Amino acid sequence: MTNLKTKYLGLELKNPVILGSCNFSNNIDKLKKAEDAGVAAVVFKSLFEEQISLESIQLEDNLNEYAERNAEMTSLFPNIVHAGPDEYLEKVRKTKEALKIPVIASLNATYKTVWAEYAKLIEQTGVDALEVNFFAVPNHFNVDGVQIENEQIEILQEIKKTVKIPVSVKLSPFYTNTLNLISKMDKTGVNGFVLFNRLFQPEINTDSLEHYSPIHSSNVVDNRLPLRYAGLLYNEINADICANTGIFSGKDVAKMILAGADCTQVVSTAYVNGVSYIQTILNDLELFMQKNNFITINDFKGKLSKKNTKDVYVYKRAQYVDILLDSENIIKKYPML
Ligand SMILES: Cc1cc2nc3c(=O)[nH]c(=O)nc-3n(C[C@H](O)[C@H](O)[C@H](O)COP(=O)(O)O)c2cc1C
Repeated sequence: MTNLKTKYLGLELKNPVILGSCNFSNNIDKLKKAEDAGVAAVVFKSLFEEQISLESIQLEDNLNEYAERNAEMTSLFPNIVHAGPDEYLEKVRKTKEALKIPVIASLNATYKTVWAEYAKLIEQTGVDALEVNFFAVPNHFNVDGVQIENEQIEILQEIKKTVKIPVSVKLSPFYTNTLNLISKMDKTGVNGFVLFNRLFQPEINTDSLEHYSPIHSSNVVDNRLPLRYAGLLYNEINADICANTGIFSGKDVAKMILAGADCTQVVSTAYVNGVSYIQTILNDLELFMQKNNFITINDFKGKLSKKNTKDVYVYKRAQYVDILLDSENIIKKYPML
């Protein structure tokens, strides 16, 4: 009898598949459907994007000034507070009441004091945990990476001081040395890392010669990046590891756990295949476990992590060099998709 239970952020999850933050949060029926399909927890839509970004479009000039950290920023930002997290908080509260599984709220944080306040308000809704989503596109030539990283670490310290619920961090993959940043963030006492957010990029229509912004799904090969980092981080940090991006099937979930993840988040597969497909993912994960005689998640978690794998080069630069030097043979063995 297989047991899919896992622990994440101190929460007992009945299996390692979480519905990641997306627009389904607006639709309680969809979330219930995901719960019926067996999903272990849901992450609510980010506060910043859902409630405040609309107003922030009007306030974009102010925000740009704010991003420059000028002396006015503390007087500018309260304007956004009045733009209203109330509706968001109410929705989170209702979702928490409606579902039996853990609900994780998400906050798109930019500035520590104000966002720690939001974290507190979110905690008061009764959610089980908070995911801090550092989605940002630095567009200033004169701000260096260390400054951005230090600010994000300070935000986490402030939020950790302010709330008692577990806090996870969702990162973009674009840091110079992601392992170093994660190790510093780990020391703030955050409880988990979600690796990684998928950034939406602008697109150009070559017929109309205009920009547009499609919402595209991930591709399955995208999960190699979280796989690499789960493998590198397993048993190296205190926080839990939640793999995200490009996870579509039960086998993908199994791969992430083999690499070292405690759990996974899925979004694209729920859009492409429907939320009920989570049931298929869980069935396939169970089949994988049965086939390999794994009774619990711990029986195979980290089995192919950097710490436990026999191939010492697999997570290193040597693997990249091998691929490029031996590409003919590799393509013969694993045809390019
Ligand atoms: C329509 C849509 C809305 C999303 N909204 C959010 C959001 O508000 N906050 C967030 O952290 N991620 C958001 N995401 C990103 C997903 O949570 C997830 O990190 C990303 O899609 C990668 O997972 P996937 O490959 O399973 O799609 C959104 C994704 C989609 C498709």
